[in-house]
Amino acid sequence: MPIRIGIINVSDRASQGIYEDIPGKAIIELLNAYIKSPWEKEYAVIPDEQYLIEQTLIDMADSKKCCLIITSGGTGPAKRDVTPEATESVCDKMMPGFGELMRAKSLTYVPTAILSRQTAGIRNQTLIVNLPGKPKAIRECLEAVFPAIPYCIDLLEGPFIECNEATMQPFRPQSL
Ligand code: MTE
Repeated sequence: MPIRIGIINVSDRASQGIYEDIPGKAIIELLNAYIKSPWEKEYAVIPDEQYLIEQTLIDMADSKKCCLIITSGGTGPAKRDVTPEATESVCDKMMPGFGELMRAKSLTYVPTAILSRQTAGIRNQTLIVNLPGKPKAIRECLEAVFPAIPYCIDLLEGPFIECNEATMQPFRPQSL
């Protein structure tokens, strides 16, 4: 089973070419450092429009068969921040532990960590995880939750993700 991962940078300005897509590149760089198994990416830079975010998530999950989709941006309190709403509306099940851990870890770096409404959820066999938009925040949050992601994908009967032990130690509980 190929490991296909979707990366969606949700940003009005990056989608218009006003900003370079630094968040998307930061996610790819981190995934390349963490994951040893060969993996393919599906990639999109889209504006903060709830319908468009939902359609992109659905396409990457249902048609492109991504086992994991990572979004960046649109998690804050501003009017156009709607990534968590779009995520929730396409998921069958929410995984609130991801947001809880990311905010707890992020609070050790910045008091404004509580401004991110980042969440995670499952659509069929796809795990969707929201990250904030700043590259520094992306690194801090992905590092916190990634150890649980390969096992989550095992439980969804997705592909087996092997990691580079030097950069990421996934946790898979032993059965017995
Ligand atoms: N989390 C971490 N780890 N580091 C950060 O610098 N910035 C916060 C928060 N979470 C931050 C963080 C800030 S200032 C905001 S407004 C929210 O994420 C939402 O960011 P977003 O709108 O780019 O998604």
